[in-house]
Amino acid sequence: MGTPYGTLPASSPEPQRKPVSLPRLQDMRERGEKITMLTAYDATFAAVADAAGVECILVGDSLGMVCQGLASTVGVTLETMCYHTESVVRGLRRVQGTAWIIGDLPFGSYHESREQALRSASALLQAGAHMVKLEGGGWTCETVRFLVERGIPVCAHLGLTPQSVHALGGYRVQGRDPASIERLKHDALDLQDAGAAMMVLEMVPAALATQITAALARCATIGIGAGKGTAGQVLVMHDMLGINLGKNPKFVRNFMTGQSSVQAAMAAYVAAVKGGQFPDDALHAW
Ligand code: KIV
Repeated sequence: MGTPYGTLPASSPEPQRKPVSLPRLQDMRERGEKITMLTAYDATFAAVADAAGVECILVGDSLGMVCQGLASTVGVTLETMCYHTESVVRGLRRVQGTAWIIGDLPFGSYHESREQALRSASALLQAGAHMVKLEGGGWTCETVRFLVERGIPVCAHLGLTPQSVHALGGYRVQGRDPASIERLKHDALDLQDAGAAMMVLEMVPAALATQITAALARCATIGIGAGKGTAGQVLVMHDMLGINLGKNPKFVRNFMTGQSSVQAAMAAYVAAVKGGQFPDDALHAW
């Protein structure tokens, strides 16, 4: 498709592809087919990721760092999340994309009350997201249940939760001591019980992520720096393309290496996740 700025991918590789749905993602989890997810924040990259076969696009609040140049995700607003979600949705529509779109609820947009969370989640769904993601366990379970009961699919996020970076004392591996291991396992079960259909597990030991994945009967775990035992994987797009402004976390692989296009790099990521070649557990010293 020609645009004033270049050419968008003509369409998905298989024209008969159906939109990715929650039942389809659950079916993949049950069959053991790895779910692939990448972040995207604009129309063109979302269309390229979709054409590469990525099933889920996360409009992550990591856009605060990679698009806005912020030091953390704490400064990202709901208005900004809606703007980027709308851009991603428009990009996918232009190429008849099929990806499942997850919008991050930013810091402060769901912490006050369940009603505030409902208003914020509604704004993201009206911007075109299919699912919202929120961080943390404990008190969030009540919020998750409230949203799910009102027809809003929710992805939870445990382990390193970047919106709590100040409380955590940095971007550190979580779930290393017995108390935090137990808390993570309980939080995961409680969030599943509250209705979370997906759950990002960020920077936790591979063995713990594998145990949590096995303990969850209905919720698909998506790992980032959590080993290969999860139901799927997610990476920040800029990291996997090797264009991170800072230092890449050691669990990230630069998929541009040896590829001649962004779409080929993303397709290589999809193939590596599906084939079990990524992540490489040797890279998990934690
Ligand atoms: O905002 C984001 O990109 C995320 C991923 C790191 C999972 O939450």
